[in-house]
Amino acid sequence: MFRKLHESHAGLTIEIDGVPAAAESGESVAAVLLRQAEPWSRKTAVSQLKRAPYCMMGVCFDCLAEIDGVASVQTCLKPVYQGMRVARQVGRRRLVR
Ligand code: FES
Repeated sequence: MFRKLHESHAGLTIEIDGVPAAAESGESVAAVLLRQAEPWSRKTAVSQLKRAPYCMMGVCFDCLAEIDGVASVQTCLKPVYQGMRVARQVGRRRLVR
């Protein structure tokens, strides 16, 4: 769906649902998600519809995903780092006790 307009200079690798994905230092997790073959970040709690990052500025909350075990992170506001583990969020956020 989306692609970079230039070649990556500072290549990082993050993991999305267990699959390695190329990323660039300084970009958001949402930007990386939008470049994937399946460009969605979460499924809705009631109807399980796929949602993808939309506003890219912290307003719509369609970009929520789990990052390094923390659920409901706004991926458009989260810069990538080497070794980050991203899991697309399905349904409601799990509460950890
Ligand atoms: S894309 Fe809208 S809050 Fe992240």
